[in-house]
Amino acid sequence: MSPITRRMASLGISVLGLLGSRQALAMPQRDPSGLTSAQSGLGWPREASTPAMARDAYLTPTPNVSRGPFYPPAPWGLPFLSARPQRWPEPPGTDLTRGTDPAAAPARGQHITLTGRVLRTDGRPVPQARIEIWSVNADALYRAEDDGVSDPGFTGYGITASNADGAYVFRTIRPPSYTRFLGLIKRTAHIHLLVQPPGGTELTTEAWFADEPKNASDSLLSRITDSSLRQRMIMAGESANPASVPLFRFDIVLA
Ligand SMILES: [Fe+2]
Repeated sequence: MSPITRRMASLGISVLGLLGSRQALAMPQRDPSGLTSAQSGLGWPREASTPAMARDAYLTPTPNVSRGPFYPPAPWGLPFLSARPQRWPEPPGTDLTRGTDPAAAPARGQHITLTGRVLRTDGRPVPQARIEIWSVNADALYRAEDDGVSDPGFTGYGITASNADGAYVFRTIRPPSYTRFLGLIKRTAHIHLLVQPPGGTELTTEAWFADEPKNASDSLLSRITDSSLRQRMIMAGESANPASVPLFRFDIVLA
């Protein structure tokens, strides 16, 4: 699918392909390796170790949702709706907190590490999957909306590829919640992800924070009533050290 076609993808908040199981899993610890700093742009966080799956595991696939109107680079994929010149990182990397201007201050807001693995439903890793993320900045604005004017330190968009273990890692911010369309759309804090496995079907989804109070009133989350599907879209927070950058893990399971 071409970039233009992808940008013109459907709007709305429909949830598709909702297959799954509620089977509990035994998860022995496993130490991922092989994602180099050159690939990730970040040092691999030691605490990012992701549990391996039991051989007979069946994992609930990650729900596929709309990418929404603010997928980069322009609102609704229509550059003429952007009032200012486009300023996007070239190429987008894995650290969204450094901005496109080397002289700019780091991104405002709480910096976090977002990591996880791309997996099949049987727990096998998916290497070389293209992973894109985007979210609002500390002022609750997408870069497609303001071209980074309100916070030049936040690129708002990142791309990486999963390693041989299916693992990926980004440095970004914990985005705030936001409303749009005179409050008709209420969105809890979330990070958009688009995953393209090699030779497979792309998946668009969102990652949510478990402790976000506005989850209860979110326009999308309130429409997903299946607890296993909701759980698949909620990140696990893992950093107990207040001096370190909080780490959130989000595994992506492809159907
Ligand atoms: Fe959003």
